[in-house]
Amino acid sequence: MKEVKELLIEAKDEISSANDMASLNNIRIKYLGKKGLVTLEMKKLKKLPQEEKPKFGAVINKVRNEIEKLLNEKMEEIRKNEKIKKFEKIRVDVTLPGAKRDKGHLHILTKVQRELEDIFISMGFEVVEGPEVEDTWHNFDALNTPEWHPARDAQDSFYFDEKTLLRTHTSPIQIRTMLEKKPPLAIISPGRVFRRDYDSTHLPMFTQMEGLYVDKNVTVRHLKYTLEEMARRVFGESAKVRLKPSFFPFTEPSYEVDVWFQGNWLEILGAGMVDPNVFRNVGYDPETWSGFAFGLGLERIAMVKYGIKDIRDFIRNDVRFLENY
Ligand code: DAH
Repeated sequence: MKEVKELLIEAKDEISSANDMASLNNIRIKYLGKKGLVTLEMKKLKKLPQEEKPKFGAVINKVRNEIEKLLNEKMEEIRKNEKIKKFEKIRVDVTLPGAKRDKGHLHILTKVQRELEDIFISMGFEVVEGPEVEDTWHNFDALNTPEWHPARDAQDSFYFDEKTLLRTHTSPIQIRTMLEKKPPLAIISPGRVFRRDYDSTHLPMFTQMEGLYVDKNVTVRHLKYTLEEMARRVFGESAKVRLKPSFFPFTEPSYEVDVWFQGNWLEILGAGMVDPNVFRNVGYDPETWSGFAFGLGLERIAMVKYGIKDIRDFIRNDVRFLENY
């Protein structure tokens, strides 16, 4: 009896100092296994005289149950600890500062384009777009630009074949619009244009915005007011506009337009009164209809407004540049 009780004390000791499942299992085998110490004691029961059996049996049973209980409790405890350890490992500290992610924004040119669109829309203009691959009729002939004109030189443009090229300006949209709509009309048309140029002030691909206004009795005053209003909204109230005589095949008279900004006259666009030949080419009667047109370079406007020196920066995709705007 005494031995059996000592078994319990030993087992208790071992169980309490075990701290993983493997050693618990060994303890279980040592005491309760087929050849375990407690099991052996039970086997001795048979050999005892009849009257001692119940008492001894009860003690052994109690010891066995007690060990079983301790083992189970310890198992539970170990399981719990392992769980805690596991969660501790994968715990996320939500109070740590988060990983910083750079937020993107619109490209400077897109912003300038949208700003101009808003300005012209507020004056009643509609935004239309056209194809970047054009035919020579829309790009040149219909715009009163004859075969011999230097702008048509293959050296200056990107031709696919004799009659197809990447548009060299947004002016063909004037033609496409007038063929489609009846006057009066007021449109602007932003888009990419292509020329064989590449230096600090010229790109082979750049962005223009065409403007066309057709109505009865349109004069240069309408043109000048519209451009002044645009200049004031883009460059500030003190912006002034100056028209200089120039030449474009599709306008008569034609102007180069300067804006007074930060102490300088800056040339930012071409403009003029729509040439009667252009009206004839789209079937408008030039005796009835009159209009003005303009074409401005969006890179140019952005460069003037933001003091950008090299036009190539727009397409270099250098974040250090893009971040500034
Ligand atoms: N298309 C001309 C160019 O690319 C710009 C231009 C000048 C457009 C006068 C016009 C205009 O509509 O009236 O150089």
